[in-house]
Amino acid sequence: MSPGADGRFAHGKVILLGEHAVVHGHLALAAAIDRGVRAAARPADADRLHVTPWGVEVAADPDAEDPLSRAFAAVLETLPGGRPPLRVDARVELPGGAGLGCSAALGVAILAAATDAVGAPAGPAALAERSLAWERVFHGNPSGVDNATAAFGGVLAFRRGEAPTPIAPGRPLDLVVAHGGTASSTKAMVAGVAARLAAEPQAMGARLAHLGALAERGRGLLEDGDLRALGGVLDEAQGGLEAIGVGAPRLAALCRVARRAGAVGAKLTGAGGGGCIVALTDGPEAARAVADALAAGDPGEGADGAPAEAFTARVGA
Ligand code: MEV
Repeated sequence: MSPGADGRFAHGKVILLGEHAVVHGHLALAAAIDRGVRAAARPADADRLHVTPWGVEVAADPDAEDPLSRAFAAVLETLPGGRPPLRVDARVELPGGAGLGCSAALGVAILAAATDAVGAPAGPAALAERSLAWERVFHGNPSGVDNATAAFGGVLAFRRGEAPTPIAPGRPLDLVVAHGGTASSTKAMVAGVAARLAAEPQAMGARLAHLGALAERGRGLLEDGDLRALGGVLDEAQGGLEAIGVGAPRLAALCRVARRAGAVGAKLTGAGGGGCIVALTDGPEAARAVADALAAGDPGEGADGAPAEAFTARVGA
């Protein structure tokens, strides 16, 4: 989360390891990307939120049907009393429902801009915590990993209810993110995992623990800069995520395309079901080649291998 001439910026993110497991108390590793949300706020006649490029404008209303209006009210509720009404302008650079932390970045950027505008600026820890009021409206039961990554940036080890730990990767990570083209609802995906856990607690509990253990293993490999081994852990996590029911044929196909093009590992990132994959490569040139292959598509994979929107991201440099 950084101040800027043009308001406050909050990061989008990719989850490297541990999504869904983190909701149930296990470790996750997340990396901030340099796409996110920028927001600015100023005193006005009434509380209003304008979001571009969506062309959306809402009032703050805790009883509204529109979740954006309720979430805006929830975040303003965390401000000190006696404040002036605020107009907040937010600019979103991330696709929604893609697993890239769009909603958390929006909540964190709006809260940061609003705290500035009322003369009570909040630091990353407070922003991550207080913006959960926003995230609960959209995601029901958020672990907090998206909000923490949006607020702190960098690469984080995160466990629910604990302060995030910044990680210094032994080598920069050259990642490729590719969007399968369909959105998914984090709320529905998280609720689906919870329902399966309730139905078969032992098997699902073990699968979630395995995903958490992969995040623990990945943390050491990340710190050591052992990208090849880390890639293998990402591949294993993709299998683990499919086993808890959040995979999708399109995402699995994109992972295969990325691996064939030279990625050292690939998995879905975020809630799954739709949205994005993240592929790990061993350098910027390899990342470019993998992004090009994903953008070109692979007819050998049928419809699931159709061209995907892909971009490279270097983290931990
Ligand atoms: C979403 O980016 C990550 C999930 O683990 C949900 C959460 O942690 O709140 C699926």
